[in-house]
Amino acid sequence: MVKAKKVGVLISGRGSNLGSLIAACSAPDYPANIAVIISNRPGVAGLAKAEEAGIPAITIDHKHFDSREDFDAEIDRVLREFDVELVCLAGFMRLLAQDFVEAWRDRLINIHPSLLPSYPGVNIHDRVIGDGIRISGCTVHFVRTGMDSGPIIAQVAVPVLSSDTAQTLADRVLRAEHRLYPAALRMVADGTVRVSGERIMFGADEQESAPLFSPPLDQG
Ligand code: GRF
Repeated sequence: MVKAKKVGVLISGRGSNLGSLIAACSAPDYPANIAVIISNRPGVAGLAKAEEAGIPAITIDHKHFDSREDFDAEIDRVLREFDVELVCLAGFMRLLAQDFVEAWRDRLINIHPSLLPSYPGVNIHDRVIGDGIRISGCTVHFVRTGMDSGPIIAQVAVPVLSSDTAQTLADRVLRAEHRLYPAALRMVADGTVRVSGERIMFGADEQESAPLFSPPLDQG
């Protein structure tokens, strides 16, 4: 079996995706281990999750730095101190500057609660509902310098119901995120996916899955 890759997770808040990664990493055959968790906000729920799991949890408060570059450099220093090989952004609410993104190119992963490249940024579920689209979802991608951009590793589609509020849709997407992120990290850590230019290539056989109709055909 390949040696588990050391992962650093960057958070800013409740850390539910962090929780799903911690759970996945606890399986003996999972090809990644979380070496360190970094939060840019003190006292957030995600830090408590990290401590509960016995994983080093460090706060690097962006307010204590004069520039974005100094803040990024401190994150970089801590990641290297823990010999991190892959970095997962999990609800990390700071934009990382070009130097950092380039230094971690093809080793820096993000999860976003929309089917990118549609709906980058914030207030996604309000915008999705406002536009009346019938299918939304979430995306795990390698990070490039543009907001929520970079080669797409994996996506899940979920239906948007006409009764949805932003909250009910967010909850449905979040449940999908918790399944997608550990699966996508597994594929990156075990080498199943690699980046070719700006596209992802799969080393394993790809299979077609059932299409998602929204609304379902028998009610349409
Ligand atoms: C998730 O919806 C994630 O996709 C987005 O921020 C949210 C973080 O939630 N980037 P949590 O902190 O993982 O619970």
